[in-house]
Amino acid sequence: MNPRFKQSERFRDRLLFVQEFLRHPRQVASVVPSSRCALKRIVEGASIRQASTVVELGAGIGGTTRALLSAMRPDARLLSIEINPRFHAHLSRMDDPRLIAHLGTAVQLEKNLADYGLDSPDAVVSGIPFSAMDQESGCEIVEAIASRLAPGGHFLAYQVSTRVEQLARPFFPSPHVEVVYLNVPPLRIFRWTKPAANG
Ligand SMILES: C[S@@+](CC[C@H](N)C(=O)[O-])C[C@H]1O[C@@H](n2cnc3c(N)ncnc32)[C@H](O)[C@@H]1O
Repeated sequence: MNPRFKQSERFRDRLLFVQEFLRHPRQVASVVPSSRCALKRIVEGASIRQASTVVELGAGIGGTTRALLSAMRPDARLLSIEINPRFHAHLSRMDDPRLIAHLGTAVQLEKNLADYGLDSPDAVVSGIPFSAMDQESGCEIVEAIASRLAPGGHFLAYQVSTRVEQLARPFFPSPHVEVVYLNVPPLRIFRWTKPAANG
């Protein structure tokens, strides 16, 4: 692709992200998409290369989606759930047979997995702002992740706030936490691993 065209496309994507942040600040929760450094830590932290089913919650303009797809196996599947119709429309233009782009809320995770006939995910990667969500929805999402995640699978949440840690306490053992300073603003990456069936 022509580098100029690529640059202007990146500019348009970023503009869309800012516009949607201004329209729905609590839902989008960030003025800029996750940095390259954060994407690398997310992909590595969730062991995406080994996964056969991956779920992404809150794809935005698809930077995380692209990073996940470029690390995933050719036979793996990615269900990407995004609540914002403009972000979803953008995501749907991604041409990758492994990707299922779904317009809807993360609260419907269990139903979506069943509707698309997907196995228990090996990784759930989430950028949705748990801090801006009501307690009931947050709990429902984390409980569904804990129950549907494959044994040995990872739930990784990249967040500015620590609220998700409190929501996850009844359902998971303690998380591994890493801070990514090369991101605006700095991000915490929480990772929970579901105990393996025999452990
Ligand atoms: C902080 S942005 C992350 C975007 C992108 N993954 C990144 O890292 O740049 C949070 C995203 O979660 C989406 N979102 C918020 N609440 C959601 C929900 N309940 N279900 C699905 N997506 C949601 C927002 O529309 C937004 O795209």
